[in-house]
Order: sequence, then structure tokens, then C-alpha cells
Amino acid sequence: MKKIALITSGGDAPGMNACVRAIVKSCLVKGIVPVGYYDGYDGMMNNRFKEMKTEDVVNIIQRGGTVLGTARSEEFKTVEGRKKAIESLRQNEIDGFICIGGDGSFTGASILGDEMSIPVIGIPGTIDNDIYGTDRTIGFDTAMNTVVTAVDKIKDTAGSHHRIFLVEVMGRDAGFIALETAIASGAASVLIPEERSNIELLAEDLRSQGKRRGNLIVIVAEGDDAGGAKEIHSKLVPLMEGYTLRYSILGHIQRGGSPSAFDRILATRMGVYAVESLLNGENNMVVGSLGDKLHLTPIKDAVSKESIPDLEHLKIIKALKTVC
Ligand code: F6P
Repeated sequence: MKKIALITSGGDAPGMNACVRAIVKSCLVKGIVPVGYYDGYDGMMNNRFKEMKTEDVVNIIQRGGTVLGTARSEEFKTVEGRKKAIESLRQNEIDGFICIGGDGSFTGASILGDEMSIPVIGIPGTIDNDIYGTDRTIGFDTAMNTVVTAVDKIKDTAGSHHRIFLVEVMGRDAGFIALETAIASGAASVLIPEERSNIELLAEDLRSQGKRRGNLIVIVAEGDDAGGAKEIHSKLVPLMEGYTLRYSILGHIQRGGSPSAFDRILATRMGVYAVESLLNGENNMVVGSLGDKLHLTPIKDAVSKESIPDLEHLKIIKALKTVC
């Protein structure tokens, strides 16, 4: 193997740069040329790339975002789009491909690998943590810490004004961020897409916990079936006479910021492991960490099998309800 292409794809996640650094440095040590394509599959289709050197990855381990840029590409889902990407990969004599991203990006990588007959390895990089075959995805830990820091601040004002706050966190399809940050921030309740939400029951629950009215936090995953924090706020207000409710949508701050030590380590280990896997002849696999041990899961399983948060954790929140 002489040249390995790499991209970051889909939503960015803190730690992607640490992973790019690890891939580039491992390649260079082994005499392989790492070719970084810009803006995910968009750059590949438009032949925008850089043969990466050590100086391209100096001082990036601590930076959020991705130095390669990223995109969600619709064109790459078409045969014509992939033909353009294959042409660029052939021109550049690429003989292996590493994709850092989420399951949509892995599906694309796998199809491309088959169409072009080059081996492909995926690395899970998304704050949502919703990839089968790994306990943790790159970026999830940092995003959780960002949420917890923000909720701590909201709790100050919630307590001062004796208000109930609904805080919306990211997670279009998955409740990992919501569930874990609800525990970490001592929330009164949490709403996640994996559990049917009942607003009447939520109101009852908050009333029972809120006799003193202050400082109650409800974490809402953006993909909850009852809607986001704004919708739930408008449904709750009529049921909560005598209480003051506000909502706050944390949004994209959750995707930014310097990666936590955990994410830097995970990203670095996964990057090194991905290069080694390609050199060991692996193909169509996604790197994962289970019980802190790295391993490979076939891409077809990683993209088709469901990854859901540990619903036992809901019981922890219930077990710690405020008794008034
Ligand atoms: O990165 C995953 C994710 O953060 C989802 O939780 C969220 O719904 C989505 O990305 C938002 O993506 P975009 O920035 O493309 O709107």
C-alpha cells in the first residue's frame, strides 16, 4: 500500500483533527503517502486534495472542527457523483481509504470501495454516539461536557428565578447525549427519541418534584417524538399553572470546542488502528471501542444494526426524583 486517502465527513465532531493527525503520522512513519481530501466526498468528486506532511498536522490535536473540512454530500449518493470520485482516486493512485464520519458516510465509503476495488475502513466520528459496534464515538465525550457546562449555567438562573427549564440538546435520531447529560447535570427528567413521551405525565412529574418551584431541568433530545424544547414548552405551559417555564436550545455549540482528553485519546488510537487494519488486509470494516478494546465491525453491521442508549439509565433519573 503506497497511498491512503482520508476524509472527514458528515457533521463535524471534536477529536476529528486528532484522528486526522494520527492517520497522517502513522502513514508517514510507514512510508505511505496520506492524501487528505477536502470537505468530505465533495472534495473527492472535485479532485480537491492535499498530500499531507507532518507540518499539516502540527498543533491540531487540541483543535475542534476538522482541518480537512466536511460536508453532507447528496451528489455522492448518485452513480455519476461516485464516478467523479473514483476518477480522482484512480488519478492519484489511491490504494486504501479511511473515512471518519457517521453511518451515512460509511455506506458511501463501502459502495465506493466495492465499485473501485480498494479496501475501506471507517472511523466513528459523530457527537451523537449512535454507531453500532462501539461504546463511544469521537466527539461524544466533548459534546457531553459542553452540554453539562451550559446546563450548570442555566441552573444558576433557573434557581434564582425559580423557573423550570427545558434544555434541548442535539440528537436527531438518538438520545445518547440527552440521557447521559441528564444524569450528569442532575436533571429532573429527560425526553429521548427511544422512549415515547407523554407530556401530561411529564407535567404531573414536574409538579410533584417542583413544590419549591426552582431549579428543575428537563433535557430534551431534538429528535424527541413530542417535538423539540420549543414545542414541548408550548404544550407544557397550559398544564403547569403557577410555574414559570423557559426553554433553551443549545444548538451547534455542542459540535465545537477543543476536544476532551478522552476524545483525543480515542481518536488517536482509532486513527493508528485504522492504518494498521488496512495494512493487515482488512476491508469494509468500522473501528470500534468496546470495553476500551479496539476491534473491527463489518460496515454492513455498523450501518444496519441499531445503536441505542442504555435505557436502564432512565431509571437512575427516576430513582433520584426530588421528593417535596
Ligand atoms: O452531528 C450530528 C448532528 O449533530 C445531529 O445531532 C444534528 O441533528 C445534526 O448533526 C445537525 O446537522 P447540521 O449541522 O447539518 O444541521
